[in-house]
Amino acid sequence: MAVILDGKAFAAEIRSEIKTTVDTLIERFNVVPHLVVILIGEDPASQSYVKGKESACLKAGIKSSVIRMPITVTETELLAKITELNADRTVHGILLQLPIPKRFDPDKIIALIDKNKDVDGFTPENVAALTNGRPRLVPCTPLGIIKILKKYAIPIAGKHCVIVGRSTIVGKPMAALLLLENGTVTICHTKTVNLPAITNQADILVVAVGQPKMITGMHVKEGAVVIDVGISKIDGVISGDVDYESVYPKAAFITPVPGGVGPLTIACLLENCLKCYQTLMEENHD
Ligand code: GUN
Repeated sequence: MAVILDGKAFAAEIRSEIKTTVDTLIERFNVVPHLVVILIGEDPASQSYVKGKESACLKAGIKSSVIRMPITVTETELLAKITELNADRTVHGILLQLPIPKRFDPDKIIALIDKNKDVDGFTPENVAALTNGRPRLVPCTPLGIIKILKKYAIPIAGKHCVIVGRSTIVGKPMAALLLLENGTVTICHTKTVNLPAITNQADILVVAVGQPKMITGMHVKEGAVVIDVGISKIDGVISGDVDYESVYPKAAFITPVPGGVGPLTIACLLENCLKCYQTLMEENHD
């Protein structure tokens, strides 16, 4: 029987601390932190994520604007908008909601975002900083996962951390962060041979593949810590990448879906916004 890692409650705690800091800094600088989200097209999942981010910003005292661009937007228009936001001193954070239409080269677009306004930690400068062991702005989901492991005093150093999924948003930065905490890290992916043999060695198992219930009890070692990043809707029911019913009895700790990693991602986005704002304001302050 596992202890449930309550991401929702912990995220509320983080958000309340952020609100306090934001209020203090607004008083000091007389400027409200401002996040701009760029949303291309009408994808319902992206729209819903963006709504969640807007509402969280508002509650934390952070101004949020959404720039909606039609699915037909050209690369030139998109790059021009990012250039404009980079130069705008009233904007402290820029988030390009992913995925973007396939005809764009996401690396080229993301690389244009000012590294000091990169609340996602996706620009080449911030990715390099993390990989080189000197993290600046770090992707929100892996950051939230490290925070909740620490909150529950779960040791990482020396532990075998197995990550299923090698995305640039979660898998790869998760590996870098766990490595920084002195974990022994293995990344599994679609070409991995005999996945259960590897996941069964995991002291900490992070699953981020977007395939509902793909990790079952037979993949998990007794006493493992299981972190479920997946969130899919099947027939109106939200499900993670982990088959909760069969894994819960074996795990020592587990994140629920919903109420686990999702709320932490948003809390860390607010934290990254605050970090961008603070850095930019302190640079300009005399
Ligand atoms: N789409 C799904 N997850 C994310 C994320 O963390 N950041 C951005 N920008 N888009 C996403």
